[in-house]
Amino acid sequence: SQPSFLATALLAWYPRHRRDLPWRHTHDPYAIWLSEVILQQTRVAQGLPYYNTFLNAYPTVADLAAAPEAEVLRYWQGLGYYSRARNMHHTAQQVVQEHAGKFPTSYAELIKLKGIGPYTAAAIASFAFNEAVTVLDGNVYRVLARIFGLHSDIAAPASRKEFQALADQHIPAAAPADFNQAIMEFGAIQCTPVKPDCLFCPLQQSCWAFQHGQVALLPVKSKA
Ligand code: ADE
Ligand code: SF4
Repeated sequence: SQPSFLATALLAWYPRHRRDLPWRHTHDPYAIWLSEVILQQTRVAQGLPYYNTFLNAYPTVADLAAAPEAEVLRYWQGLGYYSRARNMHHTAQQVVQEHAGKFPTSYAELIKLKGIGPYTAAAIASFAFNEAVTVLDGNVYRVLARIFGLHSDIAAPASRKEFQALADQHIPAAAPADFNQAIMEFGAIQCTPVKPDCLFCPLQQSCWAFQHGQVALLPVKSKA
């Protein structure tokens, strides 16, 4: 089928704007998992040295599983949200014990792991295994809400289905990993929460929010 306008625009934009980051050069599900857990609550610049140090200390999921928890937490020191490290440690042990140290290779199987939610399962499935499932994080919700004029409250759990279904219609089977990296990067540096760069945006003509003067109103997000 024809690639969607969204995929075409993002895949053209991405090579001209992408940052060179180490987790964009690997298909190792363990390394991708680590990067996404770090980046969910930590900025790239702060997370980068932790990613490298952690992978150096524990090059495989089996190494992480076998490490004492206190040591794992020491490598996490300074990153905050220590439950992330504790959960990773537990999940690593589950991967070793129940999957012989190999990550499941599909979204449907990944999401069954304790501590791996829809976002992380999609990231691993697409970046490591080329499955056409869209990552939905805050950046992606914002981009989709603006381009398609979606007014559903992104803080409401029920909205996920709607956004996921829409995004999954646009992710190209030929390049799911690049599409996902691209839409996250687009949200991070072009379609930003405040003062998005609409004037130099390749999606301006097809962006509902821009065309309707509602960029500042989208996404709709109720206070938790
Ligand atoms: N934030 C979350 N995931 C990311 C990724 N893969 N690259 C850059 N920033 C991110
Ligand atoms: Fe985002 Fe503005 Fe581009 Fe629309 S025109 S996608 S709001 S940067």
